[in-house]
Amino acid sequence: HWTDAERHIIADLWGKINHDEIGGQALARLLIVYPWTQRYFSSFGNLSNAAAIIGNPKVAAHGKVVLGGLTKAVQNLDNVKGIYTQLSTLHSEKLHVDPSNFTLLGDTFTVTLAAKFGPSVFTPEVHETWQKFLNVVVAALGKQYH
Ligand code: HEM
Repeated sequence: HWTDAERHIIADLWGKINHDEIGGQALARLLIVYPWTQRYFSSFGNLSNAAAIIGNPKVAAHGKVVLGGLTKAVQNLDNVKGIYTQLSTLHSEKLHVDPSNFTLLGDTFTVTLAAKFGPSVFTPEVHETWQKFLNVVVAALGKQYH
């Protein structure tokens, strides 16, 4: 259910991002804007204010891990549910992450990408395709919740 144009947009956007920074920035935004999400990261040390969150090396490192998870989805657009089966089970049964938080993280990714690239790259068409991608990711991550 992906058109060639959509596939091209996603691949192009992914090719433009700095994989060392975007995930960490999006995760930091999640922890700042929706502070209740900090409860899942109690082992990450100092999250007491925005500067601490932005400068926290564990946030940066885990953001990179999350981004790696999204890269797998980008590379397997036709089978996101399949490749996310274990990841969904992990977030549900082991981590007990409320699935509504997937949408929130998706939104902070959107803001992070838009702020990084601006309206010449993050056009309405790109935003729409990116949002479709996030919807697929969020649905796949929520699949193993019962
Ligand atoms: C772990 C991906 C959303 C909380 C992970 C891991 C990946 C991942 C790849 C490592 C799994 C492993 O070690 O095998 C994603 C993706 C998300 C997402 C792609 C959505 C775009 C969230 C959200 C939360 C969350 C919204 C909580 C608010 C956690 C926690 C861990 C984890 C607590 C374990 C961290 C640790 O102690 O190392 N996630 N995640 N995840 N995720 Fe997510």
